[in-house]
Amino acid sequence: MSRADSIMRHQSARLGVLISGRGSNLQSIIDAVAECTLQASVAIVISNRAEAAGLQRARAAGIETVHVSPREHPDRASYDRALADLLKSRSVDLVCLAGFMRLVGEPLIDAFPSRILNVHPSLLPAFPGLEAQRQALEHGVRVSGATVHLVTAELDGGPIIVQSAVPVLDDDTVDSLSARILVEEHRIYPEAIRLVLEGGWRLEGRRFVRASPTRAGA
Ligand code: GRF
Repeated sequence: MSRADSIMRHQSARLGVLISGRGSNLQSIIDAVAECTLQASVAIVISNRAEAAGLQRARAAGIETVHVSPREHPDRASYDRALADLLKSRSVDLVCLAGFMRLVGEPLIDAFPSRILNVHPSLLPAFPGLEAQRQALEHGVRVSGATVHLVTAELDGGPIIVQSAVPVLDDDTVDSLSARILVEEHRIYPEAIRLVLEGGWRLEGRRFVRASPTRAGA
């Protein structure tokens, strides 16, 4: 992709955000778009749960919301195909999983190759899967954090785009550690989206490699 192409794409990029609940990461993306620190628009917010509080955040921002119920689909592949079709019908360029509590399968991954991001509340590859903050506390680590990565078929195993570390304190509870990590999630998710949209990166194995910055005078 040329530099001009990547910038044009960046300015016109349409995001599709998938949620299941609270939607605070969705809110951080909405806010970054509103503050113009992220040159993109949120085209659609999809939830697998009708009662997800994040749907209300999207509506308040004037964004189209759709509840796609897993019950209306016989299997995971059919559900994922429905999501892919919906996202494509809204000309979505990049899919952001933001607290989407479902495994994403091949029909969706193949429809958006290297174009699906996820935020996870640990320093991957430590503590993938559910209850990452509880896993971190039970393991006794002194540092944890947040990771934004590209989504592949491997659960929480795709190329890492941005990470941020936080200390784990002796008297932390799941709630206090989660709150500390969440601050970092909200900071790095829009940043990672920006990096992906800017282009100039490539994948080397599981590594997300950014083009080296141009040296002054070069
Ligand atoms: C976040 O901690 C995210 O890392 C995890 O689920 C939580 C979702 O929170 N995948 P919210 O819905 O974005 O507030």
